[in-house]
Amino acid sequence: MKTRILMVCLGNICRSPLAEGILKSKLNPEKFTIDSAGTGHWHVGDAPDPRSIKVAKKYGIDISNQRGRQFSSTDFNDFDLIYVMDNDNKRNVLALAPDETSKKKVRLILNELFENENVDVPDPYYGGENDFEHVFKLLNEASELISKKI
Ligand code: 4NP
Repeated sequence: MKTRILMVCLGNICRSPLAEGILKSKLNPEKFTIDSAGTGHWHVGDAPDPRSIKVAKKYGIDISNQRGRQFSSTDFNDFDLIYVMDNDNKRNVLALAPDETSKKKVRLILNELFENENVDVPDPYYGGENDFEHVFKLLNEASELISKKI
């Protein structure tokens, strides 16, 4: 059976679509299912932010076909691991967890890179292209480590 991994941020248009695309590019699709979702509802059905599409494309990853969807408690059944981009996302996701087993699936993605530091992937939505570049690099390093140990 495939290992199922979900990436979660607030809007599901900036950070988690990048995280999904980057990790997908590093793992065998026959062994892993990777998806993303947002804790908010505003961008359901939307394509990723053009700045996320652009920075991904720069590094050879196409995320343009992804569409936003909202995280729901059923995701705890559908996924084995849930990586959240920041501490707010973590609180909101944990609030929907039906049991302890579900809570144990939730991890802050940058703890893969900076163990136990509980660092956020900064929200680039109100930023510029440099912020998206920074987010790409953080997620690329974290995903590289995840792909090696998983
Ligand atoms: P994301 O960024 O959580 O990385 O997708 C955001 C995108 C949209 C909004 C907030 C954050 N928003 O408020 O619409």
